[in-house]
This record gives sequence, C-alpha cells and structure tokens, in this order.
Amino acid sequence: MDFSLTEEQIMIRDAARDYAQRELIQDVIERDREARFPDRHVKALAELGFMGMMVDPKYDGGGMDTVSYVLAMEEICKVDSSVGVIMSVNNSLVCWGLEEYGTEEQKEKYLKPLARGEILGAFLLSEPEAGSDATSQRTFAEDKGDYYLVNGTKNWITNANCASVYLVTAQTNKELGHKGINALIVEKDSPGISLGPHEEKMGMRSSDTHSVMFTDVKVPKENRIGKDGFGFKFAMKTLDGGRIGIAAQALGIASGAFERSVQYSQERKAFGKVIAYHQSLAFKLSDMAVKIEASRYFCFKAAWLKDQGQAYGVASAMAKQYAADSSMEITTEAVQIHGGYGYVAEYHVERLMREAKLTQIYEGTSEIQKIVISRSLMS
Ligand code: CAA
Repeated sequence: MDFSLTEEQIMIRDAARDYAQRELIQDVIERDREARFPDRHVKALAELGFMGMMVDPKYDGGGMDTVSYVLAMEEICKVDSSVGVIMSVNNSLVCWGLEEYGTEEQKEKYLKPLARGEILGAFLLSEPEAGSDATSQRTFAEDKGDYYLVNGTKNWITNANCASVYLVTAQTNKELGHKGINALIVEKDSPGISLGPHEEKMGMRSSDTHSVMFTDVKVPKENRIGKDGFGFKFAMKTLDGGRIGIAAQALGIASGAFERSVQYSQERKAFGKVIAYHQSLAFKLSDMAVKIEASRYFCFKAAWLKDQGQAYGVASAMAKQYAADSSMEITTEAVQIHGGYGYVAEYHVERLMREAKLTQIYEGTSEIQKIVISRSLMS
C-alpha cells in the first residue's frame, strides 16, 4: 500500500494552499459578516483550473484525479468553506454529472464553459417537503412532446443566483415513484424561473443560497439527462461523488481549526507555562489530530476507489459521516481551547465551527449517511 502523493498531487495541494493562505484569508471575515459572494476568488480559482478539476481536458477540464480534488478542497476549506462549497457543487455535482451521463451536445454546450469556470452550475434536488426523502419530491415536469413544462419549488440551492446552469430533478410520472423522476438541464434565465430571498445562513454565509421557483418553465427534451426515468438514480450517483467533496470540506474546516489551536496553545501562557503543556489541553490536541488523520484517510480511500473505477458510494458516505461529525467536534474543541478569543471573529475558529455544522446537514445529513452504510451491510 502506497500512501505517498505524486508530484502532481503535491503541486495541486500547494497551489491551493498558497491561494488560500495568501488571498482567501484577506477578506474572509468581512465576506462572512456581510454574506458577500466571493466573485474575485471564484474567477481566480477558475484560472487555476479548480472549477472543473476532474473533467477530461477534451471538455476543457483540468484532467486531475479525485485525490487531487480532496487535497485542494482541504486547503481551500481550511480558510473559507463558502468558496469550498461553490467549488464542490460545480466540480462534483454539476460537471461530474454532465460528463458521466450527458450527451455530446450537452457536454459541448454546457460542460465546457462550466469546466473552464466561465459559468457556474447548481444542483436542484431538495424541496420544501423533500430534503432527505428525495423520492417524495413534488416538482413536476409534464411531458409535452418535444419539451417538458416544469412547475414546483426547490429549496436550499447553493449557487442559485450565481449559476447559469441548473441540473433539476422533477417528477414526470407520479405513479412510478422514483422511476418517474427525470433530471433536466435548465438555463437559469429561462422564462418562469424566480428566486426566493438570499438565505441568512448560520455559516458559509458568503455562498449563495436561495429557493428557486418554477412556473410553467419550458425545457427542451434534448436537455433531459439519460433515459426517461433516470433522474433519481442520476441524483444518487452524483451525490456519491458529491459526498467526497463535502467530506474533504469538513476535513479542511477541522484542519484549519486544529492548526490555529496548535499555534494558539503554543503562544498562550497560563499557570506559568504555555497551555500546550497542560495535559488536559495536550490530550485535546492529540484527539483532534487522530480524528483529522482518520478523516483524511477516509477521504483518500473514497477518492482513490473512484479514481480506480471501483464502487465508492459506501466509502464516500463513511467519509462524509465521519469527517463531518469529527469536524463539528474538533471545531467546538478549538473554540474551547481559544477560550474567550475563540468566541470572537478575529480568531476564525467560531466561523469554522459554524461552517462545520453545515457539513453534517447538506448532501445528506449524517443520519442519511448511516442509512446508506447500514443498507449496504444488509444487501
Ligand atoms: N447509486 C445508484 N442507485 C442508487 C443509489 C446510488 N447511490 N442509491 C439508491 N439507488 C437506487 C436503488 O438501487 C433503487 O433502485 P431500484 O428501485 O431500481 O432497485 C432506487 O435508487 C431507490 O433507492 P432507495 O429505495 O434506497 O431510495 P430511498 O427513497 O429509500 O432513498 C436515500 C435512499 C439514501 C435516503 C436517498 O433518498 C438520499 O440519499 N437522500 C438524501 C438526499 C440528499 O443527499 N440531498 C441533498 C441535496 S443536494 C445538496 O445538498 C447540494 C448542495 O446544494 C450542497
């Protein structure tokens, strides 16, 4: 078993680290406070090839592997997870879904500009009454011959306003349950699409989250992804990869909080010595380090399986559950280690703690990951 990284993987990790530590850090607190979209950073990361990292170069992507994607996500999310989730949705949900299941025409028209990072995409699955229970979605795509007429509402949509391309799941035949769901490529400026207000989130505040309403939106049949009724499986397969991105995001948030905690505890003195040498604190740091290392290996394992063309759905669910739950624990400890300083914005760890919470919720809660894992044990 070879745990070493290739030269290319190291180069990608260092480029992400350099950008995050030099540029993202500068205005991250203000962007979070003002819930301001990170335009400049999204453009810069697109120039680095980070918006379509794993897409084949023949579709204008970076041709990088999933391990490199994990490395880059970790570095970006150590500093700013809002930027991380914009990157994650575009890479692993939108670009991957189109590259894997789109037609050549769809790839030419939509995947190429998405992979170049000229435009962004969003993934519209969740609904007001169908978050975890994705089969129960009500958005309806009525088959009108050469087009679908879409009506309904999608909720909690990352990139809703900044995206130009939406991948939308909708029911076409209610009687068929999940087999009646289709996945459609919908252009955001199509007549009949409107957005709810910007969601005032607890964390990842500068990512762009809205609900999206569809009223008699015409979507040409050629924009359907895969065969009639493939939409639910499309969403599940896409989320399998998406969860690697969110696991890496949770890992990054945890590592960011950990690195700050190590530094702080070597500088801060109490009771005559730096606090790192108090055993109660040293044990905390040690527990954090172990959980981070385990999260990293879970992420690498899932990414490696995907790169090898092997089944990775259960590995990605394990990675996401473990990394997200650990990230919440680690960031909470990081705030505790920092004491009063941990509770104010300047020291970053309170923001990282707010960001960690979302990794336990989106792309399937920790409980959903347990459903995926436990079902695999029964089958
Ligand atoms: N790959 C391929 N097929 C899959 C699959 C997978 N990973 N998971 C399920 N399927 C198939 C099943 O084999 C089954 O097919 P057949 O009927 O042909 O056998 C079909 O899909 C239905 O499967 P289930 O009966 O298991 O479906 P279910 O209704 O019980 O749901 C679930 C399973 C795991 C709970 C699923 O609903 C789920 O993952 N829910 C969470 C949804 C989610 O993650 N939402 C997040 C929204 S996206 C987001 O957050 C993006 C963002 O903005 C950041």
